[in-house]
Amino acid sequence: MEEATPSEVRERLTLIADLSRELEVSVYLVGGAVRDLLLTGELRDLDLVVEGSGADFAHALGERLDAPVRTHPQFLTAEVEDPLGLHIDIASSRAESYPEPAVLPVVREGSLEEDLDRRDFTVNTLTVRLGPDAGLELIDSRGGVQDLEDSLLRILHSRSFVDDPTRAFRAVRLETRLGLRLEPESKRLLNQAVEKQIVDRLSPARLRQEVVYLFGELENLEASLRRMDELGLLRTLHPRLSFDERDAERLTRVTDQIVRLHDKGIELPALEFWRLALMSLAWRLEPAVREELVDRLGLVGADRELLLGFRQRLEAAASDLDGSRVQPHLAARSLARLQAEEQVLLSALGDDEVKAWVERWLEELRHIELTISGQDLLARGASPGPAIGAVLTATLEARLDGLIGADEELDHAAELLEKGHQK
Ligand code: CTP
Repeated sequence: MEEATPSEVRERLTLIADLSRELEVSVYLVGGAVRDLLLTGELRDLDLVVEGSGADFAHALGERLDAPVRTHPQFLTAEVEDPLGLHIDIASSRAESYPEPAVLPVVREGSLEEDLDRRDFTVNTLTVRLGPDAGLELIDSRGGVQDLEDSLLRILHSRSFVDDPTRAFRAVRLETRLGLRLEPESKRLLNQAVEKQIVDRLSPARLRQEVVYLFGELENLEASLRRMDELGLLRTLHPRLSFDERDAERLTRVTDQIVRLHDKGIELPALEFWRLALMSLAWRLEPAVREELVDRLGLVGADRELLLGFRQRLEAAASDLDGSRVQPHLAARSLARLQAEEQVLLSALGDDEVKAWVERWLEELRHIELTISGQDLLARGASPGPAIGAVLTATLEARLDGLIGADEELDHAAELLEKGHQK
């Protein structure tokens, strides 16, 4: 979907303000949206807080825009998928209490002030009142504007990191993405939460989510990893995890390779950067340590399998691709077994020969498909059976090796069948 233009966003804010007047309910633009607006002059998403029922307001807005609405009553939140391509989050103003450190809070309806009190950093408490009164008003009751001017991340109260240690990871993300710096007292309290092993109490699922966010921001990743190391946060993922110059160099090779492939116009398969980054970081860990890390993050399914087995699979592929006897179909057979992130990692860290094969795979070989199917062979009088599959595979390999063109597939396959091709 296309991005909304600044004037479309302004129009949308006006419509929301008008609706708040009609419904006589207070509506605010809050948090990261206001922070980024002040920093960059741009609005990406609309995060709204409604004093009253956010769900009712969301339904009214959805109706006005003829847009789908999703509500999450247990969290007092709703989303409106604006046809302009804007993502609109709407929450009832909430108050939170933490039954114990590092667990999810108990949420109830509260005032705007209570909603701002439960937030992480002063720069995320900035609020613009959209309505019902006419005219926009900036609410900065916690010094967020000054902190933004001073590029400081400041927590609101001394228990902040104890209540919610995910804020330690959020701090790193905001520092590196926005060029902010933890204010000294906030940093001291973060250090304390790490030392007292409060951060260790986070559930695997919550820790994983933070890793996915942080490691997904590839352009800031080196700075984030250095900072995580400095703050002792990498060690909360696994005591053996650190970030030294060799890790930095490996990561640079990976990010440079992504840029290089992009610049060469090579379209990459769908990638999840956090998986690539985690593999790069876990590169030199022994298998047993890697398994502990995977457990700590609660990785399951394909993510788990990727992290546990990638080193072995990459070694096998690198040896398949080494030497002068490699033919395209052999390279394709070897590389098709790898997940997309493994292919990119191999092209970044492999020697020149391996790199060249992976790039050829990504650019050309992986797109080559047969234009015929078993049906075409049956239509030519072949009898059903396993030979059909084998012949199709052999025909694809001939295509990959450039021995035949797409228009020669059927003849080639029929000939192989006739010769009683076995493989
Ligand atoms: N928030 C918080 N503590 C958390 C998570 C979120 O206080 N552990 C608050 C912050 O005020 C934040 C708001 O909830 O601004 C919305 O959360 P989110 O969308 O995750 O944050 P953004 O600041 O919008 O960050 P991003 O730019 O990464 O979307």
